[in-house]
Amino acid sequence: MNKKTILITGGAGYVGSRLINFCLNAGYKVKCYDILIYGDSSIKKYLKNNNFELIKKNLCDTKSLNKALKDVEYVIHLAAIVGDQPCQVAPKSAYKINYLATKNLVDLAAKNSIQKFIFSSTCSNYGVSDDKKFASEKSKLNPVSLYAETKIDCEKYISNFDNKKLDCITLRFATAFGVSERTRFDLTVNSFTYEAIKKKNLFIFAANTWRPYIHVNDMCNFILKFLIDKTLVDRPNLDKIFNVGFNTQNYTKKNLLDIIMKYLPGTKIKYVDEVIDNRNYKVSFDKLHKIFSNKPDISVDQGIIELKYLINNNKNIDNIFKNSNLDALKVFFKDNEDKLLKWKIYLGLIHY
Ligand SMILES: NC(=O)c1ccc[n+]([C@@H]2O[C@H](COP(=O)([O-])OP(=O)(O)OC[C@H]3O[C@@H](n4cnc5c(N)ncnc54)[C@H](O)[C@@H]3O)[C@@H](O)[C@H]2O)c1
Repeated sequence: MNKKTILITGGAGYVGSRLINFCLNAGYKVKCYDILIYGDSSIKKYLKNNNFELIKKNLCDTKSLNKALKDVEYVIHLAAIVGDQPCQVAPKSAYKINYLATKNLVDLAAKNSIQKFIFSSTCSNYGVSDDKKFASEKSKLNPVSLYAETKIDCEKYISNFDNKKLDCITLRFATAFGVSERTRFDLTVNSFTYEAIKKKNLFIFAANTWRPYIHVNDMCNFILKFLIDKTLVDRPNLDKIFNVGFNTQNYTKKNLLDIIMKYLPGTKIKYVDEVIDNRNYKVSFDKLHKIFSNKPDISVDQGIIELKYLINNNKNIDNIFKNSNLDALKVFFKDNEDKLLKWKIYLGLIHY
């Protein structure tokens, strides 16, 4: 039987490089479309696999993207400038990549008769919300960053896209944690664990703010479940927006510290009054769990244990850390931003 092919944009990233494993193991062919902002070490291990192809191209390069979509059944769209601070490094490029190039990709996917399109959005879209209530997919969005604004703009475009032309699923993920082939250390659980081990000191801003968390493996599990699912196809795209995470994994930063202290008890904690990031949201995942299981494969406790092992035992950890933070992104944009902004994304009749 012929294997089906998935195009994963941003496949060399934190989520994508782990997802490739899941997709290859599930019997798919994978095309990884990525400009490799953070290098290729996360996907090197796949290069010898006959079912894997790396396409090192820019998401804003319409011609290459259109070519990459040939002989592809599914698209999982992860490529983006991810997070509030990264988007501030190069806001014009972030808008172009996260929003304009995504719109274009949706159009191209429809033109190429893609069977299913999965878009990775974020619970950051809830921004600042009333933490006495759980935000559901129907709650008002309240973005407090360019990052969330670009994701919401994409959601609107996708929701208005006729599902008969393209079957689209939008997944609003909780904040990820855990080890992947490109472990990011700018995410709360990962960064707290790193700082607690390396510096033995943690400075905590806005300790009582809430956020939901999900292990990167659980993200991949859900993406594959949505890919295989056939029950949602007739629903309008607007109704195929799902929060992805677990009700039981809504935590304040203070809750997370209590867990971290179980495994790293010597850590000194300093609470800081200043508010750098005012996001605060508790999220309901009931809509998701009506269809799929509601138990995480990997809890925050287990995630901290695996992170602790990586940080203590990987001789290359300082480089992994350096490559995962804002500095790597700044270097990339210093060398490439002019070129990136010059790309003309062809959207219908309009040149941007
Ligand atoms: N990690 C999280 O906590 C989290 C939470 C919610 C949603 N998400 C979403 O999941 C997706 C993946 O996130 P991640 O944590 O893996 O991020 P990441 O930064 O690790 O990966 C993004 C990848 O996209 C690639 N990319 C960026 N611009 C590109 C361009 N112009 N052309 C081609 N490739 C480009 C980068 O090289 C990188 O490999 C994103 O869409 C993000 O918004 C992530």
